[in-house]
Amino acid sequence: MALWGGRFSQAADQRFKTLNDSLRFDYRLAEQDITGSVAWSKALVTVGILTTDEQLRLEEALGFLLEEVSASPEAILASDAEDIHSWVEQRLIEKVGDLGKKLHTGRSRNDQVATDLKLWCKLQVSELLAAVKQLQLALVATAEITQDAVMPGYTHFQRAQPVTFAHWCMAYTEMLARDESRLQDTLERLDVSPLGSGALAGTAYEIDRDQLAGWLGFASATRNSLDSVSDRDYALELLSNAAISMVHLSRFAEDLIFFNTGEAAFIELSDRVTSGSSLMPQKKNPDALELIRGKCGRVQGALTGLMMTLKGLPLAYNKDMQEDKEGLFDALDTWMDCLHMAALVLDGLRVKRDRCQEAAQQGYANATELADYLVGKGVPFREAHHIVGEAVVEAIRQGKALEALSLVDLQRFSSTIGEDVYPILALQSCLDKRSAKGGVSPKQVAYAIGEAKKRLS
Ligand code: ARG
Repeated sequence: MALWGGRFSQAADQRFKTLNDSLRFDYRLAEQDITGSVAWSKALVTVGILTTDEQLRLEEALGFLLEEVSASPEAILASDAEDIHSWVEQRLIEKVGDLGKKLHTGRSRNDQVATDLKLWCKLQVSELLAAVKQLQLALVATAEITQDAVMPGYTHFQRAQPVTFAHWCMAYTEMLARDESRLQDTLERLDVSPLGSGALAGTAYEIDRDQLAGWLGFASATRNSLDSVSDRDYALELLSNAAISMVHLSRFAEDLIFFNTGEAAFIELSDRVTSGSSLMPQKKNPDALELIRGKCGRVQGALTGLMMTLKGLPLAYNKDMQEDKEGLFDALDTWMDCLHMAALVLDGLRVKRDRCQEAAQQGYANATELADYLVGKGVPFREAHHIVGEAVVEAIRQGKALEALSLVDLQRFSSTIGEDVYPILALQSCLDKRSAKGGVSPKQVAYAIGEAKKRLS
């Protein structure tokens, strides 16, 4: 049964109905639609449309419906209702008869869908916040046990300066902390209720919309009805949050995929998150990480998709807006899955310290140290940079590390170099020296770990 029988004499073409119906995906809003309906029924009492007794009967029936829906949300899909709003109304009428037909007084599916979706998003945000926190905790836990694991840090994908695995973990913790704060931020603007905006011009009943908003757990009611029914900024914001965070997760995945190559061999991934090859028996592929990296694409697509859908839409509601849901649902599900998967990858990850150390020692990652040493002896930095460049060329020619060059060899490039250079060139000294805020010195990393633990507890 469609909701608009009166004006139509012909049934909808089945192909149109297939295109038009949204129940197959918006069934996920069932709980929110029911909660919103209960609040609306209470509002209808305040304007004399329902008696208290009628409202109680509706609320009770909606309560049963909620139980039904929570027990088997997918059962809704057996219906051929157009969307979740029609489905809830139909089921209500089946349960309480004509009384159910009063519920839609003064309400439109336009303010209803906006309210349902915002309520759903609020719930998602709280779950996503928990997952973003959980991944930060996993990163911090990994950092805690890898503070001694020295490995090369890269720029231009060339070995640049030594870092620790812990410092790498804490870099991703920072990114996720920003993702977390973006979600908090989004929540603030999400927390405004569109219910009572009607189809576009506001409801014709003098309902206290702020009170109604409060019943639904919103901080307040929206200020403009036209905007309320056509606003999907919150969906865009959440998609942006997801898109940015997925970029972080994708880079995390890419780093680990590289660390896991035979060439780097800095880590070993757990069997629980890798798979074999059907042909090559020796293979252990980092599929979980590749999928995190790969799924980043569809989330960016969902954001771009909704941007394009909304671009150029006239005020107020247009059916185009029904296209908001599938991309949003998919993107947030994907983000959530990847957050969990990233934590799982960390859980079984083994850092191969010897190999990390060996790689950090190669590649002249301590060349900056030699330059700083010369600066300490009064050589201007630009000149020191040049001297060290020449020393590196000589070390490469001899197939040695900088610290393996003899003092005589080193002094050929600058007579200021003395025996005291060798301890400076040691990896540990490279780390220790970077002790300003945010640096890789073990002290700073331990501090960062401590602060993150405090923040996350
Ligand atoms: N299924 C619709 C959506 O998701 C609900 C709103 C329909 N409103 C309307 N006037 N047709 O956007």
